[in-house]
Amino acid sequence: MVQSQAAVHFGEGTKLQIEVVEVADPGRGNVLVRMGASGVCGSDRHVLDGDWEMPSPTVLGHEGAGTVEAVGDGVTDVEPGDHVILSWFYPCRRCTACLSGKAYVCTGSRSEECVLPDGTTPLTLDGKPAFAYLAVGTMSEYTVVPESAAIRIPKEVPFDVASLIGCSIATGVGTVVNDAAVEPGTSAVVVGAGGVGLSIIMGLKLVGANPIIAVDLNEEKLAFARELGATHTIVPDDDLAAQVAAITEGGAAYAFEAIGRVETIESLPGLLAPGGSAVVVGLPPVDAPVSFDALELAESGKKIIGSNYGSTVPGRDFPKLASLYLAGALPVDKLISHRISLPEVNEAFDAMRRGERARSVIVF
Ligand code: APR
Ligand code: ZN
Repeated sequence: MVQSQAAVHFGEGTKLQIEVVEVADPGRGNVLVRMGASGVCGSDRHVLDGDWEMPSPTVLGHEGAGTVEAVGDGVTDVEPGDHVILSWFYPCRRCTACLSGKAYVCTGSRSEECVLPDGTTPLTLDGKPAFAYLAVGTMSEYTVVPESAAIRIPKEVPFDVASLIGCSIATGVGTVVNDAAVEPGTSAVVVGAGGVGLSIIMGLKLVGANPIIAVDLNEEKLAFARELGATHTIVPDDDLAAQVAAITEGGAAYAFEAIGRVETIESLPGLLAPGGSAVVVGLPPVDAPVSFDALELAESGKKIIGSNYGSTVPGRDFPKLASLYLAGALPVDKLISHRISLPEVNEAFDAMRRGERARSVIVF
């Protein structure tokens, strides 16, 4: 058992408390990880702001990387000293989806219950069980995760970069490559240029999309977007569809939403050329359905694609993304606008709520 400083959400209020939790030794099939870095992601904010139900108390954070400290019985994929990126949706490796190579729609994972495969949690706080958000809880000096959630990467990749590969980069690049399968030379618009939207822009640049249009309310974010590959940037007003149509000669081939707002998701089909695809990446609060004009959608042959975690297969995609970074093709480090300590995490969420900062990363 190790003691670990961690950022804990108690289920109400929008502030995290810094507490010392106890982390159990890794049981069979599990891995103890000493965290190197954890990103501060929009999905953590959804939990803090009460948009989604989660068990509590919960150690927040799901975008992280670190060093394997110890392994439980039966673990063969990693060993102490390995550097790993954590996956916030661990595959069960047994269901039909996993056996078909579609770990991202695994039906046996208990990640969303915030428990290990056997239903237990490795954390306690003041003698009572505590949960790790999405079974990783990366805003903690130590965590215990299932073997299938710890993916080894080369040691040359810095932890701050590696942490972002674990969520925003996997989601953003994955949605472009795995879900939309964007072809070189096709046009794309990205609504929302936070950590996830900027990662989509990096993915679009990687595959040679053109033009790449970034839309955000915040000019600072649009400067990041230009740096990472956007050819055009727009602060939206009522004329967004017309502006996109002017740049793309009639509408974009792909439109991504990376905010998680009902209104901006509903605006996607209007940004598309006939035959284009709208990709829903941002996650709205629960019970917030969106509506589309189905007749217009059908008559113009537009598609709507739901995209979760960029349809990432962690064991396949994390090492690939890490090697693209090392090859200079994916400048993940440019996404990191702030490196912070764990107690500064609440300020990072406040800045995010104001639409500021590309990505804050907690460095341990
Ligand atoms: N129009 C355009 N941009 C907007 C608008 C709007 N109406 N409202 C907010 N934004 C911008 C913000 O300025 C910010 O740059 O959306 C961006 C959201 O980014 P972050 O808060 O950094 O969130 P991020 O981590 O990128 O996650 C975005 O993806 O995975 C999901 O759960 C996640 O729903 C969340 C979304
Ligand atoms: Zn995330």
